[in-house]
Amino acid sequence: MNRFFADKTVLLGITGSIAVFKACELVSRMRELGARVHCALTRSGAEMIQPATLEALSGNPVITEMFGTRTGHTISHIAMTRQADLIMVAPATANILAKAAQGIGDDWLSTALLAARSPVLFAPAMNTFMYTHAATQANIALLKERGVFFVGPAPGRLACGEEGPGRMAEVPELLEAAAQALHPQKDLASLRVLITSGPNFEPIDAARYIGNRSSGKMGYALALEALCRGAAVCVVSGPATQPPPVAAEIVSVQTAREMYNAVLERLPGCDILIGAAAVADYRIALPDPGKIKRSDEPMTLHLVPNPDILAEAAAKKKAGQRFVGFAAETENAVEKAREKLQRKQLDMIVANLIGGERCAIGSDCGDAWILTAGGVSEAYPQVEKATLAKYIFDHLVSG
Ligand code: CTP
Repeated sequence: MNRFFADKTVLLGITGSIAVFKACELVSRMRELGARVHCALTRSGAEMIQPATLEALSGNPVITEMFGTRTGHTISHIAMTRQADLIMVAPATANILAKAAQGIGDDWLSTALLAARSPVLFAPAMNTFMYTHAATQANIALLKERGVFFVGPAPGRLACGEEGPGRMAEVPELLEAAAQALHPQKDLASLRVLITSGPNFEPIDAARYIGNRSSGKMGYALALEALCRGAAVCVVSGPATQPPPVAAEIVSVQTAREMYNAVLERLPGCDILIGAAAVADYRIALPDPGKIKRSDEPMTLHLVPNPDILAEAAAKKKAGQRFVGFAAETENAVEKAREKLQRKQLDMIVANLIGGERCAIGSDCGDAWILTAGGVSEAYPQVEKATLAKYIFDHLVSG
């Protein structure tokens, strides 16, 4: 995520909703990710949260007044909108949406929205009836037509006791939407990207399985990168330790054969297939439906090979489709990866070093090499998985 927020300036408008408590965590997370955050509170927003709280969290004075702020800083709406890479309003009430849609500038935030030069993202939060009201829906439709981004709201139980749409999106979803809005280049628009991710669990009996240490971080970093660049993304994911990107379609599987079936079903509709999963090469021939009992005798597990998902998919490749694999190696990563690239008939392979101190499995970064069928070979020492995801798509777009 850092790559989307590092060195970016986010102007966060906060309006009067009980969901302001989520804005506090949002400010902290965006700062952790390297963004500069400036908060602007509307009058009703200031009824729900003290500016001092947001000031402490953002490390910047909070804008509350049109002419001079509570702390006396003179930050005009024009100067601030010039600096902002993103204007985000979270929580956004029906009132601010109506003002933004109609071009009303009667306080600092609505005026800043009129002067916006950067992408604008709203996270609506309101009572269900206010949200579904024809006026609010028409305002949202108009704003979307003008290219304004929206995230949420989610259905659920609201503070007013009502059930239905109106809950502001949760912080991970807000961050993901902000990352997408901060990424102007939509060079994967109209492409469908299918990604395998995470480990497989192959059952031994009702309680035990054979697994591996894949976290799913690489697959999810690829999914987020592709989403931010405008692609429609489906991730066929083994049991990962990470929360998946919310905007991707997630197909949850356990075993290699389940992953294989899910991939083959979706293969005809995809433009790019990326095999980032640490697929289990073998499974137990006959898993025990009960729990195998302990004994003092040695035990042998009879394993049979699983299908090679990427190789079988590549054999069914249609014109225009591109397939990318990963090669997890303990030594001679580049030579072994090139052999896999050719054997599996891939367009690109990403070699990773595993084992030892610089192991890529489960970590946020590792040593990587991108090799293409066209002969490109580039080394990326200790690269972050999010940055590696960017390079992979850069190569695909330019190749
Ligand atoms: N892969 C796959 N299906 C398998 C095994 C691997 O789709 N049954 C994919 C992986 O997702 C990866 C690539 O093939 O993109 C290479 O995986 P890797 O585990 O490095 O190689 P293997 O083909 O399994 O060979 P080995 O384990 O002998 O290195």
